Amino acid sequence: MVPTIRWLDNKVEMIDQRKLPHRLEWYTCRGHGDIVRAIEKMVIRGAPAIGIAAAMGMALGARSIKDRSYRGFRAKFRKMADGMLRARPTAVNLRWAVERMTRTVEGMADRSVEEIRHRLEQEAESILAEDIEINKEIGRKGEKLIPRTATILTHCNAGALATGGYGTALGVIRAAKEAGKSVKVFADETRPWLQGLRLTAFELMEDRIPVQVIVDSAAGYFMRNGKIDLVITGADRIAANGDVANKIGTYQIAVLAKENGVPFYVAAPISTVDLDIGSGGQIPVEERDPREISIFRNHRIGPQGVKALNPAFDITPARYVTAIITEKAVVKPPYKSGLKKLQENPRKA
Ligand code: MRU
Repeated sequence: MVPTIRWLDNKVEMIDQRKLPHRLEWYTCRGHGDIVRAIEKMVIRGAPAIGIAAAMGMALGARSIKDRSYRGFRAKFRKMADGMLRARPTAVNLRWAVERMTRTVEGMADRSVEEIRHRLEQEAESILAEDIEINKEIGRKGEKLIPRTATILTHCNAGALATGGYGTALGVIRAAKEAGKSVKVFADETRPWLQGLRLTAFELMEDRIPVQVIVDSAAGYFMRNGKIDLVITGADRIAANGDVANKIGTYQIAVLAKENGVPFYVAAPISTVDLDIGSGGQIPVEERDPREISIFRNHRIGPQGVKALNPAFDITPARYVTAIITEKAVVKPPYKSGLKKLQENPRKA
């Protein structure tokens, strides 16, 4: 699998995910503003991937700051950070990455602007490299929950394309396959951006993992008929009580899973857990342009002027989540204490 995003000297390249699976095109960003737009327009998407892109965007932005004084540099950097934070509101990984980059600047008050810029580039590259390792660890921990033979439902794309590589939910599936298990995947198509049909199916087919796409509304039908053994999704933000924000449609799958006695797992890095947010109701849910629903690939499908509502995420209450798989531990209810423990010493696995 080619990398989702890469730093090349004075530019950042990312796969243009809007073009997949038909075309594999690189989208080039030369400045902070290019990355903000790429995130807003879904060139790159998926919580960890937009965190990495944001970090690289801050490193690119640092290059364009003309101020030679530390105070002046820091003020401009903070302004850029605010712009980056507005790109997409739900995935906390974006804020996490921007805060990590800002902390890097804060810790270098006695250094030259040149040194700070260099350090920021290294930090962004570390965030990318660490993310891949974290996903592999999530995979190793998560695959233990998968039976030797299993049909797994997933929603949206929480794969290599949504991360630095390997994936979170798809990382668990990949690790299960690597452990010699016989896994099959049902991928929800995931309206309106079709991340399941376009991206998850593409990734799994590349890895020769059997995949069948279903429409979002078919999940209950297949669960009720005993065709799905477990569900694994990613997450955009996990509140301190274990409520999970993820792609719109996740909530109904989780409710259906409980109704049908099917385990519902969430795989996510610790950076997705937001202990500042007590419960899911406080998570900002991005509302996207309604035309993403009524216009499909430049073709208007609905009647002229039709109104549509387009929340990009929903919140799944913790009571529907069987376990949260992180790089440090598989957390089971009660989530409040388990999630808090994860962040007490996040580096110690
Ligand atoms: O709108 P998207 O495509 O950015 O939404 C992505 C998701 O909802 C993913 O499930 C989530 O970010 C986890 S990705 C590892």
